[in-house]
Amino acid sequence: MKKKTIRDIDLKNQRVLLRVDYNVQVENGRIVDDTRLRESLPTINELRRAGACIVICSHRGRPRGGVDESLRNAPVALHLTELLGVPVRTAQDCIGPDAEAQAASLRPGEVLMLENVRFHPEEEANNDEFARALARLGDVFVNDAFGTAHRAHASTVGVTRYLPSVAGLLLEREVDYLTKVTDSPERPFGIVLGGSKVSDKIAILENLTKCADVICIGGAIANTFLKARGIDVADSLVENDGIAGARYIMALAEHRGDIEIVLPSDVVVAFGGAEGALVRTVSVAQVPVNWRILDIGPGTVQNFATALQRCKTVVWNGPMGLFEREPFDRGSMAVARVLGELRSATTVVGGGETVAALRRAHVAERISHVSTGGGASLAMLQGKPLPAVDALLDA
Ligand code: 3PG
Repeated sequence: MKKKTIRDIDLKNQRVLLRVDYNVQVENGRIVDDTRLRESLPTINELRRAGACIVICSHRGRPRGGVDESLRNAPVALHLTELLGVPVRTAQDCIGPDAEAQAASLRPGEVLMLENVRFHPEEEANNDEFARALARLGDVFVNDAFGTAHRAHASTVGVTRYLPSVAGLLLEREVDYLTKVTDSPERPFGIVLGGSKVSDKIAILENLTKCADVICIGGAIANTFLKARGIDVADSLVENDGIAGARYIMALAEHRGDIEIVLPSDVVVAFGGAEGALVRTVSVAQVPVNWRILDIGPGTVQNFATALQRCKTVVWNGPMGLFEREPFDRGSMAVARVLGELRSATTVVGGGETVAALRRAHVAERISHVSTGGGASLAMLQGKPLPAVDALLDA
């Protein structure tokens, strides 16, 4: 990474304002998936070992600049207490007298968690006064919030104007992995793309077609590609504005001549949408009138597996079907297992539902790098800059 990290500065007796991404779902007071907390532990433990006092700042959800009781950081602080084995204190707010007094009273190794920073509209507006108020809570700013690195907010970018700012270990690892994959992947390089928003994926494909060798497309975006190839997808979700982009990518691939694009050959279709009682697996050439494609079929999974077998690097982003609803999660889980079997390839997976598919298929530990960032990893795959990384001190 071309930025300074916590290894490059003296942290003894320093108050560190640590931005993390603890944007996690809480149900009945419990964290549903604590991966983002666990992944931040190396940085917190290193800061504690180095003798720093730690003031943790995070957002949760999208409370639109007001207090939302369901999005408080208290359950996260409680869970972090369990993971760290030391008490994590909580502040009533993320700025102001209570936060300042508590931050000032911390001793080396102690941890304070601020309240959800998005309870203030100034956060997302990257308001300068608000950034300065946050900066009063630390001597140094450490950003370990990879998941939020594509957002130019007060707690990710604004605060860097007022404090020496370096990367945490998770941010460093994520950026290093995704940079390697996007800039110089070991080839053959395979990409598996799913999800519903074609425009996001066209940008990834445009950025990666120069080095991709195999492109497997599933999810609702595949419908747009199928339609662009003249296949009748009946009532399936299609982004008509994306058809030109899909044609452009297929033309680019044809021009290069050695890119294998694998589209679904069979699909799982439902009558009456996801709630429909009628579900069938059919060839893409035989999607019945008024039916909708909601997942890839087993033949497609097999074709993806065959195409990816020769790859040395494989990146996957986006679910293969309507993942949140059974039985349309099966294609994504089958692809997760395919990636888990690619023992000699570097495999990188990003995106909330994509990572959920890995976990549901119990193969996450067999993937080389599971990204904690959905939008941020998407931005990197598209070749877009990450403002929160750019704002850190150069190495
Ligand atoms: C995420 O969960 O992807 C990050 O925390 C960013 O959240 P946001 O999309 O609400 O900015």
